[in-house]
Amino acid sequence: MNVVATVKDMQARADQWRRDGKKIAFVPTMGYLHDGHLALMKMARRHGDILVISIFVNPTQFGPQEDFERYPRDLPRDLKLAESVGVDVVFTPSAEEMYPQNYQTYVEVTEVSRPLCGARRPGHFRGVTTVVAKLFNIVKPHVAVFGEKDYQQLVVIRRMVQDLNMDVEVLGHPTVREKDGLAMSSRNVYLSSDERKVALRLYQSLMKAQELVSNGITSAAEVLQEVRSILAPDDRLVIDYAEIRDPETLEELDEINGPALLALAAFVGKARLIDNIVLTPRS
Ligand code: PAJ
Repeated sequence: MNVVATVKDMQARADQWRRDGKKIAFVPTMGYLHDGHLALMKMARRHGDILVISIFVNPTQFGPQEDFERYPRDLPRDLKLAESVGVDVVFTPSAEEMYPQNYQTYVEVTEVSRPLCGARRPGHFRGVTTVVAKLFNIVKPHVAVFGEKDYQQLVVIRRMVQDLNMDVEVLGHPTVREKDGLAMSSRNVYLSSDERKVALRLYQSLMKAQELVSNGITSAAEVLQEVRSILAPDDRLVIDYAEIRDPETLEELDEINGPALLALAAFVGKARLIDNIVLTPRS
């Protein structure tokens, strides 16, 4: 496995693989890898001849009051994990390499970036789409894998790829969870053991919502009321949003008559956690 830190070196390797007729699969990450990331890499491995991952804590997708500085980082550990799943190249640029002096170009997807995390984290998706567009130009992948854990991010990236005619196939991977259901996240390290238990309410409320919908409830308001009562019976969890939206357009839904995205964001202690499920009514 090779570690590459410059854009020039990464592009030269990508060009050579393409000349050799190799299919390049890519998984972008911000590091502090967990089994969710590794599952994406194993999936990507099956879809390409060469597997590239990036580890870059992207400053442009963090707000001024957010956790960029304290975001967990452990490159030596990440490199061992990447090697264990057969990664060929880890691209780890510095912030200066990605955003040199006088940098001034941004990619913005409008409608689907607006609700949910877009409303709560102004500029977040502009940072995500900008860095992912840059990474695609640097790694030149044929296929890239993203997690459904960040459901809106996946929708936004699919929109960008389609709208800008990027020649990359985007694949989604289901959310990987701990045994008890907590969605794996690099940010789970912020949780104390008590907070860890409180954080489970996200998963519990998603399961309850699916149960209600399976039992024939179609009112989004009714489902959301139950979700809120499970999430925040006390002030150890503060709901950022709990919404039911169309899984493709992300428009708000009042009635659940087909697949419906239930998306949650909540603060537990210092951690802001997100989770989601696509609810499916009984047929
Ligand atoms: P990061 O949070 O490190 O996540 C990297 C990829 O792993 C994303 O596609 C994310 O959806 C996926 N992922 C994280 N936790 C997961 C889980 N429990 N199950 C399945 N997939 C999971 O998302 C980012 O980084 C950044 O925004 C990035 C796309 C790298 C741009 O900077």
